[in-house]
Amino acid sequence: MSITYKDADGIQGMRVAGRLASEVLDYITPHIKPGITTREIDRLAAECMKKQGTTSATLGYQPAGYPPYPASLCTSVNHVVCHGIPNDKPLKKGDIVNVDVTVIKDGWFGDTSRMFLVGEVSIAAKRLCALTYEAMWHGIMNVKPGIHLGDIGFAIQKFAESNGFSVVREFCGHGIGRNFHEEPQVLHYGKPGTLEELRPGMTFTIEPMINAGRKDVKELGSDGWTIVTKDHSLSAQWEHTVLVTESGYEVLTLSAGSPPPPPFVNA
Ligand code: MF3
Ligand code: CO
Ligand code: CO
Repeated sequence: MSITYKDADGIQGMRVAGRLASEVLDYITPHIKPGITTREIDRLAAECMKKQGTTSATLGYQPAGYPPYPASLCTSVNHVVCHGIPNDKPLKKGDIVNVDVTVIKDGWFGDTSRMFLVGEVSIAAKRLCALTYEAMWHGIMNVKPGIHLGDIGFAIQKFAESNGFSVVREFCGHGIGRNFHEEPQVLHYGKPGTLEELRPGMTFTIEPMINAGRKDVKELGSDGWTIVTKDHSLSAQWEHTVLVTESGYEVLTLSAGSPPPPPFVNA
């Protein structure tokens, strides 16, 4: 499959799907408190999607070599890097959790995730979540026609590593449109001027996974999906779906509850 460039109708479809994905995160936000289980978060998301008239792209999702993904979203707690499966263990004060939502509306996909702090968390955990958000934005703010994918990866890697964190290599952002995962791959590390040149109409995700400790990850092994840090250090992730416009970028996964861009971003 090759890169798809969206026309005006496609962009409109992507805007709707992106906003709806973000609104699922808004819907669950007030519920993320000590004591709630990730299965309950999943149930709330499914309820929200039903009201929206969207469907979950993750429920039953089965890339080659994987078992079908069993939930409407992913919940990745503490040292879980990504693809955590909702379960019956209550969240506790001090946990950090990434909730990753992908919805389908009229055939278009919107994919976004945020970190949530459960009650009061450690200064180190808070800092990891905040700086991972900034790392994502260091990638986004570079997006415009003529730059290369390597410029995005470089910006994210430089920021993360200069703060003493590491960038997960095994998972990356991705083109998105009428398919969940399209070309190109969007690496969160790299070298300026390398890889594909950006052109208007491209839509892709930027979703850095940043570890407090070493970059290495492994499969948990018990469910075919869950990825954890090898050294059990904390990991954080944020994700937006973005459009390359004629002059820059448009973030497609924004809604009333989206955190504002960091101060260093001039929109
Ligand atoms: N939403 C994830 C992404 O950002 C993919 C999750 S696939 C799943 O690409 F099957 F684990 F849900
Ligand atoms: Co994604
Ligand atoms: Co996602």
